[in-house]
Amino acid sequence: MRAFALLSVLATELPLLPPVTATTYDLVKEYAGSTFFNDWTFYNNYDNLTNGDAIFVSAQVAASSKLAYVDPTTNHAIIKVDNTSTVPYNDKRNTVRITSNDAYGVGSVWIADMQHLPYGIDTLEGVNLMTNNQMGLHTLPGCTIVNPSQASTSQQQSSDCSYLTNSNQGCIVVDGNTDSYGQAFAAAGGGVFVTEFATSGISIWFFPRASVPSALTSNTNSVNTSALGTPTGNWPSTNCLIDTYFSPQNLIFDITLCGDFAAAPSIFPKTCSGVCYTDYVIGNGSNYATAYFEVASRKHNQRDKWNV
Ligand SMILES: *[C@@H]1O[C@H](CO)[C@@H](O)[C@H](O)[C@H]1NC(C)=O
Ligand SMILES: *[C@@H]1O[C@H](CO)[C@@H](O)[C@H](O)[C@H]1NC(C)=O
Ligand SMILES: *[C@@H]1O[C@H](CO)[C@@H](O)[C@H](O)[C@H]1NC(C)=O
Ligand SMILES: *[C@@H]1O[C@H](CO)[C@@H](O)[C@H](O)[C@H]1NC(C)=O
Repeated sequence: MRAFALLSVLATELPLLPPVTATTYDLVKEYAGSTFFNDWTFYNNYDNLTNGDAIFVSAQVAASSKLAYVDPTTNHAIIKVDNTSTVPYNDKRNTVRITSNDAYGVGSVWIADMQHLPYGIDTLEGVNLMTNNQMGLHTLPGCTIVNPSQASTSQQQSSDCSYLTNSNQGCIVVDGNTDSYGQAFAAAGGGVFVTEFATSGISIWFFPRASVPSALTSNTNSVNTSALGTPTGNWPSTNCLIDTYFSPQNLIFDITLCGDFAAAPSIFPKTCSGVCYTDYVIGNGSNYATAYFEVASRKHNQRDKWNV
């Protein structure tokens, strides 16, 4: 019955990068362990982005109230909703939104090793009690997806990426694997998400913990995306020039409550009953015991600038 939406990759600047042909990307930055929270900006404002019933706290509040911290036993980063405060009617609940200080352009691969997701980069768009991860792009008008090369179990829900179409639904692919999100994801020990942001297209692979390929584990300093097999989701550049439609991307971890996405009349009743704000946000925080990210590492790889 948790009610939240998560977003993870948003745009900031305009791209100015040469075309990409390489498929091997070298590690340039890793967020992990005791330094995980270095180099992020905490939003420090109520959710005026998606109108959630949530306050994204400052770094200080997140640390002191243990909403963003590194677990000393596992060395994993935890990013969570406040599930211990009683919130009175008319107030919002505390949660976290962080954005990486660095932005990464076309020619990047992001690898996220996650143990637990709040039961939803848009590498990850999950709401409420959905069981399968959904992935999508949101762009200016003119970007559509044709002939994606993706897993046969994935479902293409929409192919027009324009924010003006279907209330900014985006071009959405739903992973056919129920281990990609929610309780089953956590029970299976999580997994690894790989996002390739290339001139030829955007691809996302999801590997449940038990089937993380050796191409990812054998060499931790670089990744060869050609060795990862067919992606779970694929957005080729055929009718959507990646260099034109996508600027360098920041990483974002965000858990919001209700708001434009999770509480939408077309979405909320699919997996939850009652009224999002009054039945879930206010009162004690017992609805939010599983509303957290547990992140083993988040890596940024880039194609060698001198080897394009
Ligand atoms: C949200 O609030 C912050 C702080 O007041 C402000 O800087 C920002 O422009 C606002 N964003 C939107 C989308 O309203
Ligand atoms: C990347 O993987 C592909 C497919 O396995 C392989 O053919 C290619 O040689 C690899 N490239 C490098 C640089 O290892
Ligand atoms: C929290 O509130 C819910 C709903 O009002 C109630 O069922 C539950 O017993 C409460 N939990 C605690 C620990 O007080
Ligand atoms: C709050 O959430 C944590 C997991 O983040 C859980 O271990 C704990 O039991 C929850 N507390 C309450 C009071 O529900």
